[in-house]
Amino acid sequence: MAETDQWPLVRARRTRSTPARVVIVNRKGGSGKTTTAVQLAACFAAWGLRVRITDGDPQLASATYWLPPQRQAPFPTLLDVFMGECTIAEATAATTIDRVSIVPSLDTLGRVELDRPAGSDTVLATEYAADADRVDLEVMDAPPSMGALTVAMLAAADEVLITQKTSTLDRVGVAELTRPMQLVRQRLNSDLTVAGVVMIAANNRTMITDSIGKRLTMEYPDSIVHAVPHSVRAEEAPGEHLSMIDYAPESPVTAAYWHLAARLAPRLGLDWDVAPDLDRLVVRQQPIAVAATS
Ligand SMILES: Nc1ncnc2c1ncn2[C@@H]1O[C@H](COP(=O)(O)OP(=O)(O)O)[C@@H](O)[C@H]1O
Ligand SMILES: [Mg+2]
Repeated sequence: MAETDQWPLVRARRTRSTPARVVIVNRKGGSGKTTTAVQLAACFAAWGLRVRITDGDPQLASATYWLPPQRQAPFPTLLDVFMGECTIAEATAATTIDRVSIVPSLDTLGRVELDRPAGSDTVLATEYAADADRVDLEVMDAPPSMGALTVAMLAAADEVLITQKTSTLDRVGVAELTRPMQLVRQRLNSDLTVAGVVMIAANNRTMITDSIGKRLTMEYPDSIVHAVPHSVRAEEAPGEHLSMIDYAPESPVTAAYWHLAARLAPRLGLDWDVAPDLDRLVVRQQPIAVAATS
């Protein structure tokens, strides 16, 4: 029996009255935001939760390209929500993954940054609150900038997940998030906390991952620091329009995301009907998780 076979039997449940909201950020493109958004959504959905992905970055391998909305074009998008032309409920579409829905975006989304429609800062928070019965978890895939879209997502979130490719250069992108997050906390959302930092291996040199992991653990002592190994399978999955769970269930990347989801669950106000057994999943001796306390 494959080691991963146990995971779909896991059952999670929500303990809070409102859905948890997590935003995945990094100022840089190519740092693993979309991959992490889609993988986490797929993991929590496999555990029985209803998850909505909001696509804030329609460029390249976007969440909308990866999980196309199961409805006829032209469909409403996140831009229409920002422009006040529809509600988030109306813009939410089913995907090919059970229990995962998406608020899609097209390359027109850039208009939000140009037009800055009144109320942009709070529109997402308000819209999610008005449609809270639909989902158990909101996952926001932020664009690689600190513009109006990212601010709206930070204002609507209770938890931030920072992703970064593990190279020294990419650490700059993480440091640049500190000030914008402080401002959002001061002015829009005092409850915002950093749930975790996800290190996506730029290659298989785990030495680098280890040293960066230790530094991040010191910088974010209250956050989960988690490593995801490198695999070309992760690069192939978007083109197949499948989550890694379906495309490469045995991949160490898939295992690393199961682990990340399990570690994040308490932070997101989730509890277990059937809990995952974290110790049973050891993947090819890779150091796939850096404990927050180590
Ligand atoms: N664990 C991984 N191993 C190898 N490639 C990955 C991994 N995670 C993501 N990638 C690839 O890196 C690129 C950037 O990832 P993506 O999630 O699109 O980043 P972002 O949303 O921050 O721009 C994509 O081509 C993606 O397929
Ligand atoms: Mg992206």
